[in-house]
Amino acid sequence: MEAVRFPRLSTPRLVLRAPSERDIPAWFARATDVESASLAGDPVPDDISAGERWLARSRQRFADGKAIKWSIDQAGVSDAIGTITLSFGATDAKTAAMGFVLARAHWRHGLGSEAAREVLRYAFETLALERVTAEAAARNFASLRILAKLGFNHIESFIDEADGERCERLALDGDIGSSLLASNPMPDC
Ligand SMILES: CC(C)(COP(=O)(O)OP(=O)(O)OC[C@H]1O[C@@H](n2cnc3c(N)ncnc32)[C@H](O)[C@@H]1OP(=O)(O)O)[C@@H](O)C(=O)NCCC(=O)NCCS
Repeated sequence: MEAVRFPRLSTPRLVLRAPSERDIPAWFARATDVESASLAGDPVPDDISAGERWLARSRQRFADGKAIKWSIDQAGVSDAIGTITLSFGATDAKTAAMGFVLARAHWRHGLGSEAAREVLRYAFETLALERVTAEAAARNFASLRILAKLGFNHIESFIDEADGERCERLALDGDIGSSLLASNPMPDC
């Protein structure tokens, strides 16, 4: 069977591409930023050997049709500056959850918004998803601000049982998402 081609995406400032071995050192640096990991609700890896498992899992989940994780490149920056992921629903093929992480040096330049906007365009226009969901800690103001700007609606507040963190669950439906993206095609950055 022919392998599914990885969907490479681009925006004015970013290229979103398949993760590779060369991303592991930058991934490890992001993943061991304790504040960033805490905001994202991610475990902090003990050593860089976890990067091989991170990459293998990303590739396997893509091959299995369970998720697409993009590495984010910025022109003029040698390492990937972050990742953005769509994880598909186990029971609902028309729904995916979106998550993103950028290296601290690149925060607050509108790049998270720019990447998320392009992934939503791909989710609704190419994959024809009906809904994209997202979760963020209630104290994660940057993430919640991105989601609000992109038109996500609040679904519910909940406590993450793994760490007791208060979190918000949001969703954007395809009909609303497509018209929002079409009415404002360029990111406001
Ligand atoms: C979440 C994250 C990807 C945001 O990326 P970013 O490129 O810095 O975001 P943007 O520059 O697009 O900014 C998003 C909005 O949040 C605002 N913002 C950013 N940091 C903020 C903060 N600490 N407090 C309040 N608002 C903040 C920005 O001003 C911007 O709003 P504006 O467009 O109205 O000015 C990045 O902060 C990150 O990687 N954080 C750690 C991991 C994480 O939390 N991932 C999300 C898991 S749900």
